[in-house]
Amino acid sequence: MAMKTHQTPKASDLLFPVPLSIEDREGAYRLHHTTTIAASPPFEALADTAAQLLGCKRGGEDLLFKHQEGFGDEEYRLTISKVQVVVTASSERGAFYGLGAIRKLALLNDNILPACTVADKPAFQWRGFMLDCVRHFFSVDFIKKLIDTASLFGLNRFHWHLTDDQGWRIPIDGWPELETVASKRRELQYEDGRTYGRMYTKEEIAEVQAFAHSRQMLVIPEVETPGHVSALLAAYPEFGCSGGPYEVQDRWGIFSEVLCAGNDDMLAFFDDVITQVASLFTDPYIHIGGDECPQTEWEQCPKCQARMRSEGLKAERELQSWLTSRISAMVHAHGKRPIGWDEVLDGTEEMGLPSDLIVQSWQGVRGGIEAAKRGHQVVMSPNTEGCYLDYRHLDSEEEMGNLGVSTLRQLASFTPTPPEMDEHSRTMVLGAQANLWSERVLSSRQAEYLLFPRLQLLAQQLWNPQEGEKNLEKVELLIRYCEKLDLACYRGRAE
Ligand code: ACM
Ligand code: ZN
Repeated sequence: MAMKTHQTPKASDLLFPVPLSIEDREGAYRLHHTTTIAASPPFEALADTAAQLLGCKRGGEDLLFKHQEGFGDEEYRLTISKVQVVVTASSERGAFYGLGAIRKLALLNDNILPACTVADKPAFQWRGFMLDCVRHFFSVDFIKKLIDTASLFGLNRFHWHLTDDQGWRIPIDGWPELETVASKRRELQYEDGRTYGRMYTKEEIAEVQAFAHSRQMLVIPEVETPGHVSALLAAYPEFGCSGGPYEVQDRWGIFSEVLCAGNDDMLAFFDDVITQVASLFTDPYIHIGGDECPQTEWEQCPKCQARMRSEGLKAERELQSWLTSRISAMVHAHGKRPIGWDEVLDGTEEMGLPSDLIVQSWQGVRGGIEAAKRGHQVVMSPNTEGCYLDYRHLDSEEEMGNLGVSTLRQLASFTPTPPEMDEHSRTMVLGAQANLWSERVLSSRQAEYLLFPRLQLLAQQLWNPQEGEKNLEKVELLIRYCEKLDLACYRGRAE
C-alpha cells in the first residue's frame, strides 16, 4: 500500500505579515528539544528568550543569532536550511523579528521549519494597538498574552489607556483617594451598591513593561486631560470648575465636567502625576489625551475666565491649547514626548503647539493631515478607516461591538498615508494604531474576538503593505494562527 507522502508547506505560504522578500528552498529543519541555540554577545538575552519560546536549549549553533553591522533598526535576515537556522541582524529588535518568523513557522507546521531565505524589515516605525483598561479592567496575564501575540505579528507599541470618566488605574503616591474613590465605579444596573474596578499595582505595571520590553514593545501610558476626568473629579472635586459633587461615571459618553483651567492646584496635581508616571513608565512617550473636552463649564467659571484674561486668550478653545502646552511642558521636564488625540489641534491656529507633540488622528484622517502640514509627527488611527476595533465586524444585530463598523476589508487595504496627503506630509506619519475601547467588552475572550484577525491585517499593512484582496486571501491562515495561539477570533464575512 502506498504511503501518503507528507508535503512540507512552503514558508512563503505560512509567514504573516508577508515578508519583504522570501525565497522558498528544498527541505526543512526539524526543531527538537535537543536543538541548540547560540548567539553573538549582543543577542544573549534574546537567545535565552528563544530557548524558552521554542523549547530548545542553549549551547551549540543549530540555531544561531548572529550580530552583523549594516542592517536597519528592525531589519533581519533569516536562513533556514536542513542543517542550521541563522538569524542575522544589527539590533536586538531586528533579531527579535527573525525569532518571530521561526516561532510562526514552528507553530503552524509542528516544529518543522520549511527551508527558506527571508530578508525583511518594516515599512512604518510606529505599529501599535491601544487597550482601554478603564471601561473594562483587563488582567495582567491577558495584557501579556496580547503583547506577545501583537509582537509576533510585528507590532511594537502598546498604548495603555489608564484614566477616564469611569475609573483611574495608575497608582500615584500622596493622593489616596485615587484608589479609594477614583478607581471604582458604582454599577448602576444593580441596586445593591456594588462597585467595579481597581488600580493596577506598581508591581503589575513593572511586570507588564518588563514583559513588553522582552517582546521589543514600548509601553505608552495615557493620562487623560482636560476632559474624560469624572473619576479624578469624584476623588478631588476641587479640580473641577463647579467643585462638584461628581461621581465616577457608570454611563458612557462625553461629560461636561472637565478640569478647571483656572486652578493652579490642579496644575500642581498634574505636575506630580506626570512626574510619577514618568518614573513608573520607562519608555519615551506619555499620552496626555485631549479628546472630547466640552468647554461649557469654562464659559461659566470665574477662575477659567480670569485665566483667559491673564493669558490673553480670546476664546475657550484657546484655553484647551494653553492647557495642552502646560501639560506637554510637564512631560518635557522629564525628557519625554507628549502625544495627544487630534482635538489638541483645535484653537491653536494662533497659539501653536509644542512642535514635538505627536498627534494621534482618530476622527478620520483630516486631523493627521492637518497636523502633518503644521509640522507634527502623526500616528494614524482613523475610526473611519477600520482602526476602531470596538466597532462591529459587520452591520448586523448578530455581531457584538459598539457604535460603528470596521470591516476586515477596510483593515486589509488600510494605509496610514491617505492618497490626499502631500509628499512632505507623508514623511511626518510615524505609522498607525488600532484602538480597542471596552465599553461593550465584558471579557478577554470578547476582546480577542474583536481584535482578531483585524489586528493581524493592520500589522501587515504597517509592516509590508499589500493589495487588500491579497490580504483577504490570507484570512484563513490568520484564523489558523488564532487557533494555535488559543485566541478567539471572528470567522465571518469581510464586509
Ligand atoms: C476617542 O475615541 N475619543 C479618542
Ligand atoms: Zn474653571
